[in-house]
Amino acid sequence: MTIPTLQELHALGAAQQPVWPDRYQVDDAVETLRRMPPLVFAGECDDLKSSLAEVAAGRAFVLQGGDCAETFASVTADNVRAKLQVLLQMAVVLTYGASVPVVKIGRIAGQYAKPRTSHVETRDGVELPAYRGDAVNGFDFTPQSRTPDPQRLVQVYNSSAATLNLCRAFLQGGYADLRQMHAWNTDFVRTSPVGAVYERMASDIDRALDFMKAIGAESEELHRVNFHSSHEALVLEYEHALTRIDSRTGTPYDVSGHFLWIGERTRQLDGAHVEFLSRVRNPIGVKLGPTASPDEAVALADKLNPGNEPGRLTFITRMGAARIRDVLPNLIEKLQAAGLDVAWVSDPMHGNGYETSTGYKTRRFDDVIDEVRGFFEVHRSLGTWPGGLHVELTGGDVTECIGGGEALDEAGLRHRYESVCDPRLNRTQSLELAFLVAEMLRARKD
Ligand code: PEP
Ligand code: CO
Repeated sequence: MTIPTLQELHALGAAQQPVWPDRYQVDDAVETLRRMPPLVFAGECDDLKSSLAEVAAGRAFVLQGGDCAETFASVTADNVRAKLQVLLQMAVVLTYGASVPVVKIGRIAGQYAKPRTSHVETRDGVELPAYRGDAVNGFDFTPQSRTPDPQRLVQVYNSSAATLNLCRAFLQGGYADLRQMHAWNTDFVRTSPVGAVYERMASDIDRALDFMKAIGAESEELHRVNFHSSHEALVLEYEHALTRIDSRTGTPYDVSGHFLWIGERTRQLDGAHVEFLSRVRNPIGVKLGPTASPDEAVALADKLNPGNEPGRLTFITRMGAARIRDVLPNLIEKLQAAGLDVAWVSDPMHGNGYETSTGYKTRRFDDVIDEVRGFFEVHRSLGTWPGGLHVELTGGDVTECIGGGEALDEAGLRHRYESVCDPRLNRTQSLELAFLVAEMLRARKD
C-alpha cells in the first residue's frame, strides 16, 4: 500500500493545520525529518496491535495517559520519570486489583500539537494566533512566539527521541521491575491517604512475589514492562515525513509513535487525517464525542480498518458524564451489528471541561469518575468489554482538576496550575482514579 503525497492530503482538506508563514522553511523541515531514523519500529507497533487485539477481545485493559500537551521545556529526567512512575503505579493497581493484563501507553514522546477551537486568542484587546502546541508555536503571548515556526517540527523529533530514550532506559534498566513498586511511590504521594493504601497493596504483592520466588515460579514478566508511546497525529507535515516503508512487509508505518489517534476535530470521513491514517499500519484510535453518530462510527471503522483486523482500531469515547449513558449504547450496538471489531476506551476528560469564574480551565474529579462509571454501566448492560482508560495526567503535584481525596477547590487552582493546555489529574488524583477503576473492573468480572 502506498501513501498519498502531502499535496494530495492537503487537497482533501485538512482541519486544524498551522498557517506557516514561509512554505520553503516548511519544505526544509520536512526534508530534514525524512532523513531521520525511526523513533519506533514497525515490529513494536505490531506487538502493541496484538496487545490491543486482546483488549478488543475482552482479555486485557488499556491504560493510556500523559500530558494534554508536552512541552520542550518539560523534557527533563525528573519529569519523564515522574510520568512513568504514575503510569506504573496506576497499572499495578489495575492489574492487581482486577487481575487483568494492562496494556500501558503513554501520551508521551510526541504529544506536542494541539487542535484549537479558535485560530486566534485575544488578551486585553491584542489578537494573536492561538497556541497550537510546541510543535507549532510558543506559549508566550508575543507576536514572535506565536508565529508558527516549522523548525519546531524538527525539535519535536529531537524531544521525542530524548524522551523515548529515557523511557526505554528507565524501563529496561530495571526501574519497571515489580520489586521497585515502593520506589515509584515517592514524595507527596507516599504521605497522602491513597499513597498509604498503595503502600499496603505493594507490600501484599511483595509477599506474593516472595512466595513465587520460594517455589521457583518467578517469571521474566515480573521484571520488565511493555510500554508504548502515542500522540494525536495532527500536523500532517510531521506525520507524513516520519512515515517509512517497513522492510519486512513492504507496508507503511508512521514511525513517530507506536499508537496514533485522530482527534474529535479532525475525524472527518473524507478529510486528510482519516485518509492518511487509513494508509499506515500502526494501531490507531479515533476520538468520538457526543455528536458522533453510529453511522459515522461504522463508516470510520470501514475506512480505517477495512480488513476488520483486531487491535487495529480503538474508539476513544469522550462524551461527558452527562451524555455517556445516552449516546454510547447506540454506537456500540451499531458497530456490533455490523460485525466490526474494535476496542472501546473511555476518555473521561475531554467531555467534562469547564471554565471557572476566575478563568481557569478545569474538570471535576467527580465528573471524570462519573463518566467512567457510565462507560462501565453501558458495557455491562450490553455484555461488551470496557476496554480501557485514556486520561490526562502528570507526575507532579499540580492543582488543575477539582476534587479528589485532597478536596482541591476552585480557589486552590492557582497554586500550581502548570498546564499549557487542558487540566491534568495530579499524581494522587490519578492513583485514586486507578483504585476506583480497579474496583469497577473487579465488579465487572464477578
Ligand atoms: C486531546 O486528547 O488532548 C484532545 C484535544 O482531545 P479531543 O480531540 O477528544 O478533543
Ligand atoms: Co487535552
